[in-house]
Amino acid sequence: MNAVADSHRTVNPAANGQPLLQLRDVTKRFGGLTAVNKVNLDIHQGDLHFLIGPNGAGKSTLFKTIVGYHKPDSGQVIYKGNDISFVEPFLRARMGISIKFQTPSVYPDLTVFQNMVVALNRRRTAVDNVRQEILDRLDAVGLHGIENMAAGQISHGQRQWLEIGLALAVDPELLLLDEPNAGMTPDETARTAEIIRRLNKDGMTIIVIAHDMEFVRMLEPRITVLHLGRVFTQGQLCEIERNEEVQQIYLGKK
Ligand SMILES: Nc1ncnc2c1ncn2[C@@H]1O[C@H](COP(=O)(O)OP(=O)(O)OP(=O)(O)O)[C@@H](O)[C@H]1O
Ligand SMILES: [Mg+2]
Repeated sequence: MNAVADSHRTVNPAANGQPLLQLRDVTKRFGGLTAVNKVNLDIHQGDLHFLIGPNGAGKSTLFKTIVGYHKPDSGQVIYKGNDISFVEPFLRARMGISIKFQTPSVYPDLTVFQNMVVALNRRRTAVDNVRQEILDRLDAVGLHGIENMAAGQISHGQRQWLEIGLALAVDPELLLLDEPNAGMTPDETARTAEIIRRLNKDGMTIIVIAHDMEFVRMLEPRITVLHLGRVFTQGQLCEIERNEEVQQIYLGKK
């Protein structure tokens, strides 16, 4: 199974125009609530895509269905042409899919460096072998130099960047970031946008959930608007902002 998961990394879907990730009529219910309702979405290699929408729209549920924490009630999650709808999360991670969840997942009593070791540990054990790799990842998220501080002692913004660093530990091809700038100052948000821009420029395919339109503006991505579990509309920021229904209903402007 490892070989199967690892072999997915060698496939290049862009070579035949196939999307890296394809959601086909993905539906997820919690009892009587349909949190995600027949969502279709194509993400191509190298894309930087934003998912926006009001509280409860189903954004986080959709992310959890992509990484395997939820299994769809119907529809399919296709990665590099393979139906992975029922593949376990750790295998999806091995295939190159990684997530920063909306809720914190750092260990506050461990150092920044030790948190990264824990995130890497599923793949390798000898810390000396991964030291440079960890420092490189921390560098990529602007945390070089504070690797020996307890994660509970660093600032809120730095903790969010550490969360991104933890998601980078598996060397992802597809990175999902659920509200990476939540609670950040405008300056920290700008730095987060820069981190994302650089990762994307280096070839990583990234989907970001965000509420803050200033943050979206910094990256000018393609956007999908979710509402009540459904795709409401898709487009570039200027198209989304021009859409009066989106303004009135989804961005809270009257
Ligand atoms: N594990 C769960 N069990 C039951 N209901 C859930 C569960 N997870 C999410 N929901 C419900 O599904 C709906 C979508 O939730 P979700 O967290 O995906 O929304 P969201 O778009 O991420 O919202 P927010 O912007 O507030 O993070 C909500 O009504 C929520 O209460
Ligand atoms: Mg959410």
